[in-house]
Amino acid sequence: MMSSNEIREKFLSYFESKGHTRVESSSLVPQNDPTLLFTNAGMNQFKDVFLGLKTLPYKRAVSCQKCVRAGGKHNDLESVGRTARHHTFFEMLGNFSFGDYFKKEAIAYAWEFLTDVLKLPKDQLWVSVFKEDEEAFQLWQAYLPKERIVRLGEKDNFWSMGETGPCGPCSEIYIDRGIEHKCDAEECALGKCDCDRWRELWNLVFMQYNRDENGVMTPLPKPSIDTGMGLERIATVMQGVYSNYDTDLLRPLITFIEDMTKKEYKDNEQGFAFRVIADHSRAITFLISDGVIPGNEGRNYVLRRIIRRAARYGKELGLNEPFLYKVVPKVVELMKDAYPELEKNMPYIQKVVKAEEKKFLETLNDGLRILRENIEDLLKENKKEIPGNIAFVLYDTYGFPIDLTCDIAQENGMKVDIKTFEELMNKQREKAKAARKSEYEIDELASVLSPLAPTAFVGYENFETESQVQFILAGKAAVEKCDDTKQDVIVVLDKTPFYAESGGQVGDTGVIENKDFLFKVTDTQKTPDGKIYHRGRIERGSVSIGEKVTAKIDVERRLNISRNHSATHLLHKALKEVLGEHVNQSGSLVDEHKLRFDFSHFSSLTPDEIRQVEFKVNHVILKNLPVSIYQTTLREAREQGVIALFNEKYQENVRVVCFGDYSKELCGGTHVKSTGEIGLFKIISESSVGSGLRRIEGVCGFNLMNYLYENLEILDKASKLLKTSPEELLKKIDELTGQLKEQERMLESLKQQLANSEVEEIVQKVKPVNGINVISARANAKSIDDLRMMVDTLRQKIKTGIIVLGSCSDNKVLFVVGVTDDLTKKGYNAGEIIKKVAKIAGGGGGGRPDFAQAGGKNPDKLDEALNAVFAIIEELQNKI
Ligand code: ALA
Repeated sequence: MMSSNEIREKFLSYFESKGHTRVESSSLVPQNDPTLLFTNAGMNQFKDVFLGLKTLPYKRAVSCQKCVRAGGKHNDLESVGRTARHHTFFEMLGNFSFGDYFKKEAIAYAWEFLTDVLKLPKDQLWVSVFKEDEEAFQLWQAYLPKERIVRLGEKDNFWSMGETGPCGPCSEIYIDRGIEHKCDAEECALGKCDCDRWRELWNLVFMQYNRDENGVMTPLPKPSIDTGMGLERIATVMQGVYSNYDTDLLRPLITFIEDMTKKEYKDNEQGFAFRVIADHSRAITFLISDGVIPGNEGRNYVLRRIIRRAARYGKELGLNEPFLYKVVPKVVELMKDAYPELEKNMPYIQKVVKAEEKKFLETLNDGLRILRENIEDLLKENKKEIPGNIAFVLYDTYGFPIDLTCDIAQENGMKVDIKTFEELMNKQREKAKAARKSEYEIDELASVLSPLAPTAFVGYENFETESQVQFILAGKAAVEKCDDTKQDVIVVLDKTPFYAESGGQVGDTGVIENKDFLFKVTDTQKTPDGKIYHRGRIERGSVSIGEKVTAKIDVERRLNISRNHSATHLLHKALKEVLGEHVNQSGSLVDEHKLRFDFSHFSSLTPDEIRQVEFKVNHVILKNLPVSIYQTTLREAREQGVIALFNEKYQENVRVVCFGDYSKELCGGTHVKSTGEIGLFKIISESSVGSGLRRIEGVCGFNLMNYLYENLEILDKASKLLKTSPEELLKKIDELTGQLKEQERMLESLKQQLANSEVEEIVQKVKPVNGINVISARANAKSIDDLRMMVDTLRQKIKTGIIVLGSCSDNKVLFVVGVTDDLTKKGYNAGEIIKKVAKIAGGGGGGRPDFAQAGGKNPDKLDEALNAVFAIIEELQNKI
């Protein structure tokens, strides 16, 4: 039996022996490819190479790529657990040719690997080819009889990574798992049914086209090869099992879940929950390790759906407490040899998973109950559809992802009204969108500027340069000349010292001018394809295309920004040192005032940790380390242990920023020349921005000086107000709070004395009503609590009777009624009495038989109400 680790290695080294360069798996989070939610195939990281936008030092590559197919064009979430072969997370073995070899060699390599290296039985192998691909059909005949070469249509044999991008006809290699696995379809045959018997092993894509948004296909610069073989599937064959879940990649997870639940797994419908949990826990572990966190948008939402789906199936197996986080170490144990980063990230992954599980479990039971009740009612009425508004409430209030609701519906033979659900979701989204301010339409601008050449950026070395105007945009109109001082104008130059906002660093401001005009730049941005544009106002004269100008940035501002940017790198490194290697930047903002840094970490920083971080950063600042910046390849940078960020797109050539030998980070931003220029650094706030994410704000240089001034001024003012010196301030505050407390105590006791003497007066007013003591009086107390205290004292004094007190405060009336226990037993009820009394003063209230309270709106009627008490009680006596 061949282990998955062996298969993986055999594949990589086979293709290495055929001149392929072994390339590491890229992150599951696609690097700057907005068309893609998750990395879904080995070719993703080579997309730009296929398109001819990028070249690599090699023409043949081989990889084992982490993939997730959940959400987006390739989505297998629904099939997971139902078939023996679908997964959210899987590994794809692939060989690639970038304009080097084509169909003939791709087919020959695949055949040799399967039949020679892996020694699969030739007579069980089948292939499919695109129906119009005569060449592939011919080529395969060198290896297989015609009968086992099936021509299929676009759906099966034309592959594309998404709606747009590289694509081409493909040819797939299948293995027949044997007639005994035949399905019930009329014709169980390759391409005719979709059963587990015909196991698709390997897809060879003959990359030939690039498809655009309109579906138009243009030929790629060079025909290329992209192949993909699912490791889990080939492992089933090599390990003599039928289901992917019985391979050494997944079965140990199922066994682990068996141990946890004390339930036995079965390879049939009953085992569904086991399979879902085993599959999902791999996706969860890898996604979080690659920087995704559960959330409500995009890929974060997909991760949330996966975690919640797994959590819910855990509940089916009787797991009512968070448990997925306990599966994570098992996944790590199985996969860490191939993906060493998992082990390093494990504590962090577990924390993220556990927090999400906990959050969901809090509402899961309520949500399930609501859904169950609805399903029961609907089924009673013979209805088979769960209304969209219920699915929406479950989503919105109970955190049920829609596919969870659909799953449960399906288990009950029902469907969900997705249309209404979507409508409600859209309404909610629109509301949220309307609440956000409208964003600038960057896409539009990018296409307007697309004919221009990329702008040369000279601002690393120069703060000022001579250049030429290339483009002017006033409002939405491209113009030759502009003198409009009333609206924002966009100006593009051939070269510029203005840094365009990116990597968290804000854009530069400054001026573009010549003797005839002055343009004030308020912001600088760039398009994804490198056109830098300056936004601002014309202050004087007019600007025309072709004009020679001087472009000058605001130097002081830039220097402040650079200080903050450099301090951010030092902070990143210091955080890793103090808190651990799991700290990774998830976002940052650097402007002229401060720096903001978001990073993964689970608890708030203690004052001591903050001090340690500040100390480390300042230590490096005071050492005045030189800053060196150099270009290298991404691969070399990684090998040198340079910090690179999850979600950042890096070109093949990268820029590395080093502070002595303390920190090395990939970065395109501007920096100080040596750390001493930063001056001094201080953290001014630390907070949470989501589960597992913290935010630090810090200042340095002049901003820190201002921060200190402001704080010292507060201290100074406070001391003056308290008539003391800053040094004595704390002592003084202590003294004053002591005095304040003492005075409060005195006030309380005075109030008590007053109340007591009032009580003495009131108790004199007791009147017998047919043998019952009744007190009805005005009191000075202003709060219900004080009134209640008085009632209690009066109760003790008269021993038996009914007490009604009324008072006036803030133009409102308060009433309280107390009845002693002997009388409540006879049927006198404080609540009943107070209703009648309060009504006279325009109010209402209630309470228990022995005590009740009420309010009223008419202070004028207070006396009338209190006078009526005697008659009200007499009336009651008649009833009792
Ligand atoms: N990119 C091809 C696939 O994913 C190989 O099937």
